[in-house]
Amino acid sequence: MKTLLSGMQPTGTGMLHLGNYEVLKSWVQLQNSGEYECFNCIVDWHALTADFDKKENMPEKIFNVAAEYIAAGLDPEKSVIFIQSDVKQHAELHLLLSMIVPVPWLERVPSYKDKLEKLGLDSYGFLGYPVLQAADIIVYKANLVPVGKDQLPHLEIAREIVRRFNFLYDDIFPEPQALESYVPYIPGTDNRKMGKSYNNYILMCEDEDSIVRKIMGCFTDETKLRRGDPGHPDLCPVYALLKIYAPSETDRIKTLCEAGDREWGCVKCKKLLVSSLLETLKPFRERRNELLADKEELRKILKKGGEKASERAESTMREVRQAMRLW
Ligand code: TRP
Repeated sequence: MKTLLSGMQPTGTGMLHLGNYEVLKSWVQLQNSGEYECFNCIVDWHALTADFDKKENMPEKIFNVAAEYIAAGLDPEKSVIFIQSDVKQHAELHLLLSMIVPVPWLERVPSYKDKLEKLGLDSYGFLGYPVLQAADIIVYKANLVPVGKDQLPHLEIAREIVRRFNFLYDDIFPEPQALESYVPYIPGTDNRKMGKSYNNYILMCEDEDSIVRKIMGCFTDETKLRRGDPGHPDLCPVYALLKIYAPSETDRIKTLCEAGDREWGCVKCKKLLVSSLLETLKPFRERRNELLADKEELRKILKKGGEKASERAESTMREVRQAMRLW
C-alpha cells in the first residue's frame, strides 16, 4: 500500500476557509478510497517561519485546525492525524538533511525569493523551510503528497534531497511524487482567489449572519449593471460558488442569467447561495464545535496520532542513523 502525507499550517487564527475546505475534501476522498495509508500532519513548526513573532496561542490554532480536519471527514480511525512538533524525528531528520543540501538549491525556490522580497523574511529557518518539508515527507517514506501547484518546487527539492541521500549513504528513501488531485478554483467575495491574507474569505465555521452579510456583499459579474442586463456567469464569483454548493441549479441559472431574465437577478443567486452554504456547512459547524468543546478528547486523539507517527518515524530514523554511521 502506498503511503501518503499531507500537511497544513496553523497560521492566522487556525480557522480554515472554503478554499481550504475543498482541499480537505480531496484528502478525505483519498482517505476513504482505502488505497493509501494516510498521514495528515498539522505543521506547526512551519507556521513559525512566518509567525515567529506572533505570540497568539499556538495550541488554540492547532486545536482549531484539528477540529476542522475531523469535522470535514478526516477520520482518526482511518488516518494518522498528528502535530508535527509531537514527532521530534522531523527535526532530527531536518538537521541531518541540512548537512547535504547545497544552499543555492534553497535560494532558487520561488516561495523563498518571493517572500524574501515581499515580507523581508530572511531567517535561517525560512531558507530551510523546504528541507523541513522534505523531512516531514520522507520520515514516513511517503510516496505521494497531495499538493497544489504552488508546492511543486518544494516537492522537486524533496526528490533532489532523496537522490542525494540515497547516493551518499544507503538507498533508504523512495522519491515522493506530487498528487495533483482535482480541487475546484474558489474565488473570494472580491473575485480574487480566496485567501487568508485578502480578507475576501468565507470561513468553514462562519456563523449565519456573517455568511449572509458576506454573500450579499459579494462581487458579481461587473458588466451586468441592472437586472435585465444579460450576464456572464463564468465571470461571476457567486456563480462559481453555486457550481459547488448548488450544482443541480446551475444549468437553469446560467440560461436565465445569460438571457438577462427580468425575474432572476443577482440577489436571487446570492440568496440561493446563502441557503445552500448554510445547509452544507451546518453539520460541519456543529461537529467542529462539539469537538472544540472537549479539548481534552481532541488532545488525546492528536496524541495518539503522534504516537503512531513517531513509531514509524523512529523506525526510519534508525535506518538513517545507521546509514550515516551515527551513534
Ligand atoms: N508547505 C506546505 C504549505 O504551505 C505545508 C507543508 C509543510 C506540507 N510540510 C508539508 C505539505 C509536507 C505537504 C507535505 O501548504
